[in-house]
Amino acid sequence: MKVTDLIRKRRSVRSFDGKPVSDHDAERIMEFARKVENPYDLAIEWELLDAKRDGLSSPVITGTNTWIAGKMLQVPHREEAFGYTFEKIVLYAVSLGIGTTWIAGTMDRGAFERTMNVREGEVMPCVSPLGYPASKMSFRETMMRKGVKADSRLPFEKLFFDGLFDRPFNEETAGKLKDILEAVRLGPSAVNRQPWRIVIKDNKAHFYKKAGKGMGGANWDVQKIDIGIAMCHFEMAAAECGIRVSFMLDDPKLMNEDGLSYIASFSFEA
Ligand SMILES: Cc1cc2nc3c(=O)[nH]c(=O)nc-3n(C[C@H](O)[C@H](O)[C@H](O)COP(=O)(O)O)c2cc1C
Repeated sequence: MKVTDLIRKRRSVRSFDGKPVSDHDAERIMEFARKVENPYDLAIEWELLDAKRDGLSSPVITGTNTWIAGKMLQVPHREEAFGYTFEKIVLYAVSLGIGTTWIAGTMDRGAFERTMNVREGEVMPCVSPLGYPASKMSFRETMMRKGVKADSRLPFEKLFFDGLFDRPFNEETAGKLKDILEAVRLGPSAVNRQPWRIVIKDNKAHFYKKAGKGMGGANWDVQKIDIGIAMCHFEMAAAECGIRVSFMLDDPKLMNEDGLSYIASFSFEA
């Protein structure tokens, strides 16, 4: 399946059909997870967890006991690396017909961290259930989706810019980058805030984070995870469009409004 189709197909699945994940599917996901690399070359340890065996729970998930979680050292760029890597795993799961939901908040974090043996100096930013989607969403899931307007995204003009932050792109002016930027636009983000902003300048895509109110805290920044997801979508969609990109940290020091911080860049072929 094409990456851009997987991105379009993915949604948070919170209601599962009760069937255990087959050993075959679980093994394929773990094998894939252990191989995924990230642009920061940071190591992430992935584990498959069983809610019954390990005493795990989340108030928003029904119909599966299988979970995946990752932990890593608390080093710079951990969140972007985590977001990028976990989203590759999520899209792989979608390709197998397996549902996921990124979960940073609505779970018994203490129980997950104990099971993952998260030590001083380590972080376990997010977890996800794995399972086969139920044919009907639970009432709670339907309400949650409404609450965060999960089916809508900000328009191009609010997210993507041509050289300067006061020159927005729209779908027509984005040219050959249209499908790639659309793949970024459709990404999942915490509370559906979509904090990614991208300026295209001199064949580079510079990723910025727009800080959201009430999104700080803990020893990691959930919105940097969202940017990691955006970077994953950008790179995978570019590859599909035959555009080679290369990752760099190269802050162009653009004038920008308050609340925007530079995260990373990709250069691409003209
Ligand atoms: C980093 C991150 C953290 C999230 N944390 C939670 C969470 O704690 N609980 C939850 O139900 N959904 C969580 N979500 C899912 C988002 O609410 C969801 O992706 C967004 O509303 C868009 O909906 P969609 O994934 O169906 O496209 C999280 C998503 C991301 C990317």
